[in-house]
Amino acid sequence: MNESKENPFTPGAGLKPPYLGGRDAVIDKMFRRSLDRTLQGCPSPKDIVIYGPRGVGKTCLISVVEDTLKSMHETQPTRIKNRIRVVPLTAGDLRSEADIEIQLISLFGQSFWKKFIPEKAEINLLPLSVLYERKTTPFSQVREEFAKRSQRTPVVITIDEAHTLNPEIFTAISNHSAMIRKAGGALTVIFSGKPHLLYMASDSGASFGDRFEKLDIALLDAKATIDVIRIPFSKHGIDVDEEVLTNIANDTQGYPHFAQIWGERLWEQCRKTGRSRIRSSDYTGAFDEVREERKLLYGSRYRLWKGRDEALLQRINERLRALNTLPSETGVKSIIKEELIGQGRDADTFDEVFDKMIESDYVWQPQGQDAMSFSLPSFVSHIAEIGSQA
Ligand SMILES: Nc1ncnc2c1ncn2[C@@H]1O[C@H](COP(=O)(O)OP(=O)(O)OP(=O)(O)O)[C@@H](O)[C@H]1O
Ligand SMILES: [Mg+2]
Repeated sequence: MNESKENPFTPGAGLKPPYLGGRDAVIDKMFRRSLDRTLQGCPSPKDIVIYGPRGVGKTCLISVVEDTLKSMHETQPTRIKNRIRVVPLTAGDLRSEADIEIQLISLFGQSFWKKFIPEKAEINLLPLSVLYERKTTPFSQVREEFAKRSQRTPVVITIDEAHTLNPEIFTAISNHSAMIRKAGGALTVIFSGKPHLLYMASDSGASFGDRFEKLDIALLDAKATIDVIRIPFSKHGIDVDEEVLTNIANDTQGYPHFAQIWGERLWEQCRKTGRSRIRSSDYTGAFDEVREERKLLYGSRYRLWKGRDEALLQRINERLRALNTLPSETGVKSIIKEELIGQGRDADTFDEVFDKMIESDYVWQPQGQDAMSFSLPSFVSHIAEIGSQA
């Protein structure tokens, strides 16, 4: 292999991978259920909520969708008449109602905000530093004007890390979006975040079921994991032995972050050997380093469980692992209560423990099933390993 080639794999938060595996079906759903109508300049029925455990690929999925949307005007001129305005935001950009209003007002540029922002307000062209002062005109007028303009220039706003939004802000964004669509606007907001985005949203009072297309992002299947490794290598003229691909699919258990770590390490192996084929010996050569990286990652999740909580997690893990299928949320909460009582603790704190389970990517609830699932099967084995060493 040519030494100067840069490693294409991207093991890191939010980095776009060289090949996005296994997400065609979910991208297709995003278009069918909402984006297609918005792109035609029509109001779509719903905003989109994407949720899944940490590192499963929410951020890079929305980056890929953003890129697709930005280029559609050129790549699919028969399907898309007008350029689409894509606005990538994160929860940090939206801390107050005024932030939302500023984002909506500044989106269509000077001719738009001049209508709504008083002359005396100082305006810096960076939308985030617009000094906005409420005019006496009600915000509904901004929404109506927004609706009109978006019919010509459809708007897609993405909000990553949306689980960290204040629930009131989440509701306010969703209300503005619904009102703009009601006025005929072509706007889709894509919220993405960790699984408790769902819990937060249902607590926020928005009529959740009707307003959002909820799409879960789960682990990859073996074929997609193999593609994530095989395709980028083959683009550089490097073959990967079937046995290595199968081993990686088994080892990562569908976690895309680990697949990127494997890709990066195998690339290094390949650089060392100078060969254009990856075989078992390369896999074995990279194995310890991959394990080391994985331990670091689990460590950061496990550290959320300290003292009595660590013992509690160990007990719960033992019980859940013994089951063929995990119970529903209510069932998991009953187990937590029993174990809290077993530890002589207040059983009423079960909700906090449950939240921590979600937060630390121990369990989550994929869409359309009552039973909960382990977020990351190999993390579960890691917990058990620590337990057996104690
Ligand atoms: N479908 C995929 N195909 C290939 N690589 C992927 C895929 N999804 C994610 N990755 C890789 O996995 C890693 C984590 O992805 P990403 O940061 O998008 O996850 P996330 O769900 O947003 O995580 P977090 O919850 O921490 O924000 C990155 O290295 C990314 O390149
Ligand atoms: Mg992310």
